Amino acid sequence: MAISISLTVNGSPVTANVEPHTLLVQFLREQLRLTGTHVGCDTAQCGACTVHLNGRAIKSCNMLAVQAEGQEITTIEGLSKNGELHPMQAAFRECHGLQCGFCTPGMVMSATALAETNPDLTEDDVRRQLVGNLCRCTGYHNIVKAVIQGAAGMKAGATA
Ligand code: FES
Ligand code: FES
Repeated sequence: MAISISLTVNGSPVTANVEPHTLLVQFLREQLRLTGTHVGCDTAQCGACTVHLNGRAIKSCNMLAVQAEGQEITTIEGLSKNGELHPMQAAFRECHGLQCGFCTPGMVMSATALAETNPDLTEDDVRRQLVGNLCRCTGYHNIVKAVIQGAAGMKAGATA
């Protein structure tokens, strides 16, 4: 039996009917058509499905849609503002922090949440704290560079 939920997604109120077993990632991709959030494993291993729940990075394959009732969700589609890339997205582009791009939305969402809590990230911080996001292409080096540059860009934007 479907259950009605109300939440905020990328700053807009959303009300929808979901099945009790619908995962948050399924709800975002299949009902809201926010397909920037990817599914790489469905078992909370890869981080491709990472979104923000009230500003905190979470794996949306590991949470039911009904658990998002009343919460605030941000997906990769909600990061850019006024047609401008978020500083973390811009840094991934500038530093070549992606190849196929499959992991990238989840990487960017984890990285932005991380940079919010620690704007002065070191390489060691990034390598340790993004351990829950897997990339099969890049070898991580440029991702680490991108995250450090993106965090600096976020800090500069916050103090501008
Ligand atoms: S799809 Fe959620 S962690 Fe892999
Ligand atoms: S860029 Fe291909 S999986 Fe990361």
